[in-house]
This record gives sequence, C-alpha cells and structure tokens, in this order.
Amino acid sequence: MFQVKVPATSANLGPGFDCMGLALKLYNYITVETSDELVINLIGDYTNNIPRNKDNLLWKSACLLWQKLGSKPHPLKITLENYVPPARGLGSSSTAVVGGLMIANALEDFPLDRFELLKLANEIEGHPDNVTPAIYGGITLTVMTEDTVVPRILAKHPKFKTVVVIPDILVETEKARKILPALIPRQDVIFNTSRVGLLVDVLINEDYDLLSIATQDRIHQNQRASLIPGMPEALKSALDAGAYGAALSGSGPTLLAFCPEGSEENVADRMKEALTTKSLPSISLALDIDSEGAVIQKM
Ligand code: HSE
Repeated sequence: MFQVKVPATSANLGPGFDCMGLALKLYNYITVETSDELVINLIGDYTNNIPRNKDNLLWKSACLLWQKLGSKPHPLKITLENYVPPARGLGSSSTAVVGGLMIANALEDFPLDRFELLKLANEIEGHPDNVTPAIYGGITLTVMTEDTVVPRILAKHPKFKTVVVIPDILVETEKARKILPALIPRQDVIFNTSRVGLLVDVLINEDYDLLSIATQDRIHQNQRASLIPGMPEALKSALDAGAYGAALSGSGPTLLAFCPEGSEENVADRMKEALTTKSLPSISLALDIDSEGAVIQKM
C-alpha cells in the first residue's frame, strides 16, 4: 500500500498561455492497495461526477503507461482523496493524469523518470502548463518541440505569497478554449511574448515590482471574461489592494494573485468583493508554492 500526493496547479500566469504554470500547496491524494478487481473510492471535499470505473482519468492514465511498457494493468483498490476543486482552473485533471502515471510507474518498480512521465502526461493532456509543475513543483516554463519537451523550473521558493479566489461556478476547459479566436493580431503576439520574457526575468531575479506588467495578457483572459462575471474588475482590485500581479488561473474561473507577505487577506477580500458586485460568490485560499511536485509516500 502506498500513496501519491499530487499538487494543484495554476496555468498560464497571465501571458504564458499553454506554457507557464506553478504548483500550489493544495493536494489530491491517491492511495493504492492490491485487489482482485478495480475498485475506486472517492473521499475528500470533491467527489461528484468522477467516474468510479474504467473511464476514470487516473485509471486510463495508469493503463496508458502499462500499455507503453507492454505490461498488463494491475487490479487495484484506489482511494482518491480530493481537495483540488474540479473544473475551476486549478489542474484537477492533471492531478489525475500525473497520479495515474505515478502509481503505474511505482507498481512496475520505477522504469520511467520524471522527464519520461512528463512526455507521457503531455500525450494525454495536450499541453504541459499544468502537468510540468504537477510533476516537478515550482514555477515552470515548458517548451514543446516536434519530438520532445523542454521543461524549465524558474523558481522553487519565490519570496511572495499566492492567493487563489475560486468562484462558485464551473468552467470546462474545452469550452473556454473554443471561445478563443483562431488568429491573434501581431501586436497582441508582441504584447504577450514580451511579457513572457519579462515574467521569466522577474521570477529568476526576484524583481517582483514588475509583476504587474509581467502578468498582463491579451490573447486569452479578456476573451474569457464572459464566462467569469467580474473577472477584469477582480484582477484590477488585486493590484489596487497591493498584489504584485494577478491573472486568470488556467482557463478559469479561479483567479490567482501574487502578494507581498501580509497582504493576502486584504487582496483576497477585495477580489471577492469585485466578484460579489457581479453576483458571483467565491472563496479564497492563501497558498504557498509547492516546490516538490508529485511524490510517493509509503503508508
Ligand atoms: N492553458 C490552458 C488554457 C489551461 O488556458 O486553456 C489548461 O491547461
């Protein structure tokens, strides 16, 4: 019997659409025991609408690894203890993909290293902005090439706090991607690429005063505002309340703010107020960056 602990993640960080992300100290736990047949138990804060059969994403991810290795699936009793809210832009599906790959890899005595697990996770997820930080921890940039993937960890222990404000609505990533225009004007490409460069520099050099510029985006956030009433106002409120920077978390609806220590409560309250004025209730969490990524814990 063993357990895998996989962190929540926040993708994009403003301008880094589909390539930047970070891991948060909020976790889903997967406990694995031998069994005669597949049994999936669900506990924790989020258990609704998660398949308990072979359609379960964690199980399908484990089966992909076994298939790649030419091994047979092991019948297992799997207990999913979920604290990462689903369909909120906090990487819950990545926790399932990474968790499934890690349990299958552990049961085969660790034939694949983290980099090989990342490549497999990308085959399932399609883009690496959540799976890279879920596997490695920290704040990450991932570059996809035609035949490989280049993960870079930009910071593991940044000297800021993060606040996530989680609105009480669900946003399916697929729908939030369909809403985006297929073509991006050249000036918006320049706007975003320059800010991704700045964001990388700011994270490495800890020059956080520039985060208000470095987290700006023009290629996906405002295009998704119709799905999240009050989003632009809440991001502005975060900066007005003293946050270094703020962004939509993944495809939303969660909002992410980078804050000087001590300002978390004020920033969270102002962001929630901005959403409340648009009749959107929300909760907030002050979370540190996870620096380890997914880990296996013996029970
Ligand atoms: N980069 C993705 C998006 C986030 O914004 O659609 C989910 O991985």
